[in-house]
Formats: sequence, structure tokens, C-alpha cells
Amino acid sequence: MAKYAIKNVTVIGGGLMGSGIAQVTAQAGQNVTLVEVNADVLKKTEASIATSLARVAKKLYKDKPSDGEKFIAETRGRIKGSTDPVESVKQADLVVEAIIENIDIKHKLFKDLDAAAPPSTLFASNTSSLSIGEIASVTNRKDRFGGLHFFNPVPVMKLLEVIRTPETSEETYQAFMAWGKSIGKVCITCKDTPGFVVNRLLVPYMAEAVRMYERGDASARDIDTAMKLGAGYPMGPFELNDYVGLDTTNFILEGWHKKMPDNPLFEPLESMKKLVSEGKLGMKSGEGYYKYDKKK
Ligand code: 3HC
Repeated sequence: MAKYAIKNVTVIGGGLMGSGIAQVTAQAGQNVTLVEVNADVLKKTEASIATSLARVAKKLYKDKPSDGEKFIAETRGRIKGSTDPVESVKQADLVVEAIIENIDIKHKLFKDLDAAAPPSTLFASNTSSLSIGEIASVTNRKDRFGGLHFFNPVPVMKLLEVIRTPETSEETYQAFMAWGKSIGKVCITCKDTPGFVVNRLLVPYMAEAVRMYERGDASARDIDTAMKLGAGYPMGPFELNDYVGLDTTNFILEGWHKKMPDNPLFEPLESMKKLVSEGKLGMKSGEGYYKYDKKK
């Protein structure tokens, strides 16, 4: 493992996933540079990390709030904001990309980063549905490139999927596994296949629930109650869809449907497409399959 000792991590993208990745990395004592498009967005990202850290501190230091305050300050102190992706990777041991799911935008980003980062820097994408090999194809470090796929909410969900392409080297893979462990995650390994393990199972399950609702077999609320009380899921499929973001699930389904049009599991969903077209994206927009009091 000595070859790749990871201490400085650059996270590109400060949305739900990127901010969580930055947070858990900083909580583990590593230095983080978090890159966003402008100072205003960075401010919002930093505020959401502060809120999440307060929840973590409340749990970890419930008997000693002053230690909790110290933990929050130290963790936040390890996260540096930046609006310059190229500059941000010059000292990085590892770069984790968590930007919009658009292959052209990812290609442009990784081309620039590849030219700027030292040869030893490892690259990873947190994509939930695109091919890691395809993202890596524009770089000259395909052996030092893989997938690191986190789950929402990142500070709570223990799993990290480590994705190897046929070109990911054994050393890179081992470094990813060790890094995942160092930030407190349980790692599993998967080939570079659509959806990896979790989304390949979870997305068709959520889609089947929506089809059941669209057929009128049961209400969204009753399907959710059924899966929580009858199958022990922490959230029902509609709550989870709203939580993850309907734009995300819809994007994944549409992408897979385009690539694999004969698979009925990936048929896009009328009700979801309609909600997305109306800007009803779930919790983050205040409405999805359910309505929410305040925007989250
Ligand atoms: N930051 C820090 N802590 C958080 C948090 C966050 N963002 N969100 C929740 N927590 C903590 C709470 O503080 C609470 O801590 P406590 O145990 O000390 O009280 C604990 O988590 C439980 O939270 P709540 O009491 O608010 O609510 P729940 O018990 O309902 O748990 C949940 C919330 C953890 C989100 C749970 O409902 C759950 O596990 N849901 C399923 C989530 C899931 O399936 N995620 C995967 C989605 S797929 C994905 O991400 C892949 C991507 O590619 C699309």
C-alpha cells in the first residue's frame, strides 16, 4: 500500500454526494479540497456540511458537547474550498469526481485534470450509472482510474463500491480499498457494469414500484408502508425516489434504456418523466411523489 499513501483528496462537485464525500474524508483526518463552480455554491455546500457535521457530532459526543464543537471545527478546518479544478489537483493524491452525470462534461474535466495532476495522482468517479472505462478513456492514466461509488446520505451509509475496469491496476485497486477503509467505509468490489451492484438492483426495484402505482394496484403511500413494514426497508420506494432525486432515477433509467432497449426493467416511467418535466424532483425541490413542507 505504501506506493499510494492518500493524505490529500480533491473532491470535484459539492452536491449531495460530493459534499458528503468531502465531509467523511475530512472526518477521517485527511486534507480535502472541495471544488465548486463559484463562491456562492461553495458557501451553500459548506453550510450543508456544517449541518451534517452537527448531526454527526451530536451522536458521537452526546455526553461532551464541547468535544463535539472541537470535532466540527477541526473537520471543517481540513476542508478548503476552491473554484479552480485544475489548480486543485496539483497536490492531490486522489481526485474523486462527483459532478453532473454528463459524459461530455466529465470528459472535458478529466482531460484538463489529467494534464494538471502529478502522474502519481489516482482518479476516481462517483458516477452512479455511467461507464468508468468510458469516463477514463480520455486520460493517460487508465491504470490509475476507477470507480468509488458512495451512497446517500454519505455520512451515514457505510458502503463504498470500488469499481475496477479491465485497465485499473492492482495497486490502484488496493489503494482504493485501503482508502475506503481509512474513511470508515465497508468496501465491496464490482466490475464496471451498469449500476454496479446497488443501483443495478435498487433502480429496477424502484421502477417496478412506480409501475405498480401507475397501474393503480396500490397507492404510493401503501407501497411504501408495505416495503417498510413487510420487508424491513428503512424507506419505501417512493420515499427513496424522492430522497435520491427523481431527476437522478429518471436519468439512470433513460440512459440504460437507450443502451439496452430490450430490457423491460429499464423502460422509462411516465409519472416520473412528468414530475421531472414539471421541476418536481423530490425532497430537494419540495415536491416529488410526495409534498414536503420546506425545501431540503
Ligand atoms: N448527515 C449526518 N447524519 C445524518 C444525515 C446526514 N445527511 N442524515 C441522517 N443522519 C443521521 C441522523 O442524525 C440520525 O442519527 P441518530 O441515529 O444519532 O439519531 C440517523 O442518521 C438516522 O436519521 P433520522 O433519524 O433522521 O431518520 P431515519 O432513521 O429515517 O434514517 C436514513 C434516515 C439514514 C436516510 C434512512 O432512512 C435510510 O437508510 N434510508 C435509505 C437510504 C438509502 O437507501 N440510500 C441509498 C440510496 S441509492 C444511492 O445513494 C446511490 C446513488 O447513486 C443514487
